[in-house]
Amino acid sequence: LLAMGLSFVLTYLLGSLNFAVIVSRLLYHDDVRNYGSGNAGMTNMLRTYGKKAAFLTGLGDFFKGTASVLIARTIIGSLGVELPFDGGWVGAIGVLLGHLFPIFFHFKGGKGILAACGAILLMNPDLFVVLFIGFVPIAFITRIVSLASVLGASAYPILVYIKCRLIGRPPLLDVTFALICVALILYMHRENIKRLLNGTEKKIGRPGK
Ligand code: G3P
Repeated sequence: LLAMGLSFVLTYLLGSLNFAVIVSRLLYHDDVRNYGSGNAGMTNMLRTYGKKAAFLTGLGDFFKGTASVLIARTIIGSLGVELPFDGGWVGAIGVLLGHLFPIFFHFKGGKGILAACGAILLMNPDLFVVLFIGFVPIAFITRIVSLASVLGASAYPILVYIKCRLIGRPPLLDVTFALICVALILYMHRENIKRLLNGTEKKIGRPGK
């Protein structure tokens, strides 16, 4: 319990380092949450400040997801704790909660796609490739990032289930953790989902949007 608690607190704090807020404050002396969709994420950085700002944000938010899985696995592993699931899940959920509800930035953060992808890179490298090939083109072709985000997130627990069945591992715990992460991400996308359904979701790179 101590190892899990420590991993959770550390990765929550790391997740709270929301790079959209940090980059916009450092480079532009402003807060990206005042613009566009009001979201502290890479898409809104691209919309508001352009490619360089989006790239730096993406890099930071992605790799804090990866680092959190590593941190949780290392702490849980080095304290010799045997868990019935991959300890990386603790880091994945910690970093996600920190990113969505950052303690340093009034609990108003991003929507979690990049931090989750960074975590998936270590948790399920094979599924990372599947998600990347399946959903990045959707964002580029439609120019609606949230569409790819919502579809990709929804596919993830299904892919985890299929993988568990293929490798003969009991799917219950992995699918449950995946569903917790996806529920958080979809909840953060609730306004995007409404706009997608009524056809008013914003596209990237269109003037005035
Ligand atoms: O991952 C965030 C993206 O799916 C949507 O961002 O700023 O268009 O609400 P935004």
